[in-house]
Amino acid sequence: MAIATDDILVPRSLEVLKQGQAASGAFVASPNFPTYRYAWLRDGAFCAHALDLCGETEAGTAFHAWVGRSIEEHRPMIEHAIARIGDGDPPPPEEMPPARYTLDGALEQPDDEPWPNFQVDGYGMWLWALAEHIGGPAAVASRPTIELVAEYVRATAPLMSFSCWEEFDGGEHASTLGAAIAGLEAAARLLDEPRWVNEADAVRARLLGRFVREGRFMRGAADERVDGSLLWLGVPFAVLPLDDSRLEATVEAVRHHLYRPGGGVYRYCGDTYYGGGEWILLACSLGWYEAVRGNDDAVGPIRDWVRSQAHTNGDLPEQVSDHVQAPEMVAPWVAQWGAVATPLLWSHAMYLIMESAASE
Ligand code: BGC
Repeated sequence: MAIATDDILVPRSLEVLKQGQAASGAFVASPNFPTYRYAWLRDGAFCAHALDLCGETEAGTAFHAWVGRSIEEHRPMIEHAIARIGDGDPPPPEEMPPARYTLDGALEQPDDEPWPNFQVDGYGMWLWALAEHIGGPAAVASRPTIELVAEYVRATAPLMSFSCWEEFDGGEHASTLGAAIAGLEAAARLLDEPRWVNEADAVRARLLGRFVREGRFMRGAADERVDGSLLWLGVPFAVLPLDDSRLEATVEAVRHHLYRPGGGVYRYCGDTYYGGGEWILLACSLGWYEAVRGNDDAVGPIRDWVRSQAHTNGDLPEQVSDHVQAPEMVAPWVAQWGAVATPLLWSHAMYLIMESAASE
């Protein structure tokens, strides 16, 4: 990718991603934030994609190989979940395959803080990133592994689960369905089996039937609010053509309600996590969308803001607390888990992805 060489945030971002990749191939979410010492499939999929775009395809391969091994190690659990869902008796959330694994691909220890691990978007995102992987996805994960994950995504798409923000919030989330659609379409390409396109279409019908109101997507089937994660329905998940009016209206709602011009992007109105500040990775998601749509003028201010948020060593935080929605909620989170996670690998990944899109 031909991105600006005078930008020190590019090499620093590559360094953060590579230093945060364990020998196993897993990416730690944040090396300095104890609660994030795990490897999320969601964060990792974007880290691998960013490294691919920067020509670091071996790092991407190592990640995908780690996911493949971790999935196979938990095959009985995943097959059991699929079978029970098929019987109309899904396992309880805490017995479902997790959103995050240890860096060795194990489940969390029973004495770890309980985590809302039943999130399925990461499995779809992994299939998407695998299909995008430059350098021969077929060699990285076996057909049976890809089939198993696609079956799991298909089976869980209709279930209530936690969101990409790890919150239940009604249990039905448009961005999770978007990830499922992208993942199932990726499986169709990886396996060369059109039946997965049909499965993606079934999820799309559910998304369009239940999550669109007044011409735009809502974050939940019964939650009209806009959410930064809805950006991914367009870029990269392309659940509809990018000029579809429902997608365009959704992005416009993000710009209007969640983007602070000259600043970043909030997750959603009413967010209180660390006060509910502006998220770097969402600002970059908006910048990515704008770049793909050719709205070059819109990318510059986002890029400038993201760069200005880097700490002196170039590290990017998860979120920025200068203009939080709930100031009284900053201190309680800092007391509970420490300062905002920095560096957050996913923030750096999204920065690289945005810059790559902007340079095309
Ligand atoms: C975010 C998730 C993310 C995790 C690890 C959470 O606070 O809500 O989207 O996967 O952190 O970075």
